[in-house]
Amino acid sequence: MFITLEGPEGSGKTSHLPPLVEFLRERGYSVFPTREPGGTSIGEQIRAVIHDLKNAEMHPRTETLLYQAARAQIVEEVIKPRLARGEVVISDRYFDSTIAYQGYGHGQDLEQVRQLVRYATGGLMPDLTILLDIDVELGLQRKSRQQEWNRLEAYTVEFHQRVRAGYLELVRQEPHRWRVVDASQAWQVVQQTLRELVCQALKS
Ligand code: TMP
Repeated sequence: MFITLEGPEGSGKTSHLPPLVEFLRERGYSVFPTREPGGTSIGEQIRAVIHDLKNAEMHPRTETLLYQAARAQIVEEVIKPRLARGEVVISDRYFDSTIAYQGYGHGQDLEQVRQLVRYATGGLMPDLTILLDIDVELGLQRKSRQQEWNRLEAYTVEFHQRVRAGYLELVRQEPHRWRVVDASQAWQVVQQTLRELVCQALKS
């Protein structure tokens, strides 16, 4: 099974993944966590280029293509082989981030972006995608307390509003694949909900 976590900035995905994985392993599942962009040596190098604040002149199409390059590598090098071995792969972000950020956020042609995504993934779809949804300003505040911003996080609040609205539109279009969790709730409540959603999916 292939599960992806998505969300606007500061939704807490990254802090939830390790305890979720540990919980599932204790229950006997063979789980492999990963993240995008990154998760491979090539992908981590591409991540550094995309996120570097020095690359302020990067065009949205360049940005879109770099994310797809990193994605093609992780799909072939990590995700497909592990799924073929029967493991549960949980990814902190996957192609819905491209639709939300590069598609809705930058206002690029959604059909063209979707075509690139299909090329990069070879058509590999998640079985379940969980949106950790949060008010944009609250999420950005959380993030700015935790770490220095990367080039993406430094985009305008309006950009991030379009990203969040884009995610909610994706949920509306494909309700069977998505589950939405209110990430403004207490951390323990969010973690518990994630555990329940993933266990339900693994048992079904
Ligand atoms: P994160 O590790 O904090 O989630 O940072 C990843 C950043 O990259 C985040 O700002 C979202 C962005 N991103 C995209 O814009 N498009 C993508 O396809 C992916 C995977 C991430």
